[in-house]
Amino acid sequence: MSYLRSAAFDEAGYVVLDSYDQSKDPQEWLDLEFVDWKSSGDTRFAPLTSAAGEMECNGFWNHTPPRTDKDGVWVTANAEKAPHLVARATEPGANLGRCRVIELQPNEYASALYNLHQDDNNRLNPDGTGWIVRGFFNLSDDPDSVLILREDRFNPDTEIRIPLAAGTQAIVDTQRFWHAVWHRGPEPRYCLITSWESGPELDAYVASHHGAPQTANYPLDSAFVEDAQTEVRRRLAERAAALAAKGKAPTADRGAED
Ligand SMILES: [Fe+2]
Repeated sequence: MSYLRSAAFDEAGYVVLDSYDQSKDPQEWLDLEFVDWKSSGDTRFAPLTSAAGEMECNGFWNHTPPRTDKDGVWVTANAEKAPHLVARATEPGANLGRCRVIELQPNEYASALYNLHQDDNNRLNPDGTGWIVRGFFNLSDDPDSVLILREDRFNPDTEIRIPLAAGTQAIVDTQRFWHAVWHRGPEPRYCLITSWESGPELDAYVASHHGAPQTANYPLDSAFVEDAQTEVRRRLAERAAALAAKGKAPTADRGAED
């Protein structure tokens, strides 16, 4: 047995859908209740679903009984305030796990690279069922901020940069890619993030919105990228030294979300 995966993700590992007309919807995300949740960068999250419908963001595997990132339960207080967001999350008709709005404060490119992580969406996911991927629907208009994807954490040549104008819709195998967002600001960035199970429903949704890998990368000067990479190596070495001084080994630097 193996996981059911969408053909759309087989080659590139991500797709960008047709842009959504975000301007026609109210800014529901500004009305939601946010909770502090440690992630990569300076973030807060507003859960639309959670493991039991509570106003919290913990992984479903940290609940009793532990389970995978499927069958999210609506957090009524937030879901009621965001009917457009709920409609967009449920439109694919695929099994939906965690669904939340992230608020990310501005950061630096080097900090985003330092925060690169792979998600753990498929923990406890039963073999033979659909592989869990994640939708990123940008709500605020951040055309010069980018979702960074890397096949190889330390190789900038593998870097995909998806610019985050309002209405940008990407679906990513976030357990495959190292990923983080470089958000230039100055205002916070808001994005709807949803875990979906791969399968025929998600395939049909991707096809109907013309999902495909982007054809051009957001341009960055190569010297700028290399300088940031050097800074990341310096920070990682510094962190390893600090941990060694405490007698601890460096652990995988995995952020919780996004
Ligand atoms: Fe993530």
